[in-house]
Amino acid sequence: MAHRRAQPYREGMHAPARPSKLSVIGAGGVGVAIAYAALIRGSADVVALHDIDAPKVEAEVLDLAHGTQFLVAKRVEGGADPRVVEGSDVVVITAGAKQRPGEPRLALAARNAEILKAVLPGVREHAPDAIVMLVTNPCDVLTVLAQREGGLDPSRVLASGTVLDSSRLRWLLSELVHVDARSVHALMIGEHGDSEFPLWSRARIGPLLVREWMEEGRARFSAADLDRIADDVVHAAYRIIEGKGATSSAIGVSSARIVEAILRDERAVLPVSSVLDGQHGISGLALSLPTIVGRGGIERVLEVPMADDELARLHASAEAIDASLRSVGG
Ligand SMILES: NC(=O)c1ccc[n+]([C@@H]2O[C@H](COP(=O)([O-])OP(=O)(O)OC[C@H]3O[C@@H](n4cnc5c(N)ncnc54)[C@H](O)[C@@H]3O)[C@@H](O)[C@H]2O)c1
Repeated sequence: MAHRRAQPYREGMHAPARPSKLSVIGAGGVGVAIAYAALIRGSADVVALHDIDAPKVEAEVLDLAHGTQFLVAKRVEGGADPRVVEGSDVVVITAGAKQRPGEPRLALAARNAEILKAVLPGVREHAPDAIVMLVTNPCDVLTVLAQREGGLDPSRVLASGTVLDSSRLRWLLSELVHVDARSVHALMIGEHGDSEFPLWSRARIGPLLVREWMEEGRARFSAADLDRIADDVVHAAYRIIEGKGATSSAIGVSSARIVEAILRDERAVLPVSSVLDGQHGISGLALSLPTIVGRGGIERVLEVPMADDELARLHASAEAIDASLRSVGG
């Protein structure tokens, strides 16, 4: 059978789209999980991995590249040279120390602020047009530092925030009521950390408020049940850290999902963290609220009407982040 020749490009034909590129800085458990999820989901055409630990990052890239035939993405590359991030549309930062068992996320701030300062100049030099997403903890504090130190437009820097925590909440609720997690619409908001909380006043299963969900003629969830679920979500990471030393798989897939919303200009509503500009009376601090995410990064932070106690908790969460930010000189 004769093969059809590829047509040479002529003016007037559509120019082939430039491949999209995601770079992940930090090839530890989290960085590799994000790269792996992005490769098998096809979140970007090219996925690059960078770490200062050359043998480690080279081994990780090779291990991922050996599966190229089975990936949706086209190519994986990387190494210890900071120029690896050149041409990136999105740079995800996972470089940093991780939580020790029992350590609050905010205690990591000083250690990881220094690492961020070491990473940012390379990003600014080699990928000046990239949207930057922080995953390194405390991700809200580091988002503010990255925005200020990097001189970045606030719409082009974000953190994965409570996208993962909201996924944990949706999964827990879905298990309890036996409904697909995609039909559970519930958000954790505020700090990605101990002061985060579920926005119960808006949480729904299908069209029903969680608080209205009935089983055997009675409301399925009492106030104590809702508190227990919230507590499970807030402490989920600690439980995983005790058992396997670190979390990685779910942050991998949830970060890849955010990258897709950006690169495909989805304008998806996701609870990412970004530097606020007056929403709910908060300015100059980053925390998670439902946000329209698209090719411009943060397209719009939605101001959701909240119950009085929820608004008070949001402000308490902002204060916790502010205290941590000030502790690292921000
Ligand atoms: N935001 C979230 O939801 C979430 C979830 C899980 C983990 N995390 C955070 O992600 C971070 C990484 O976790 P991990 O388990 O992958 O840690 P890890 O120790 O396995 O990996 C960290 C990597 O960063 C690299 N690194 C250090 N300094 C660097 C630099 N200047 N440039 C490039 N690379 C550098 C190290 O060599 C190491 O490979 C931690 O801060 C952790 O708390 C965040």
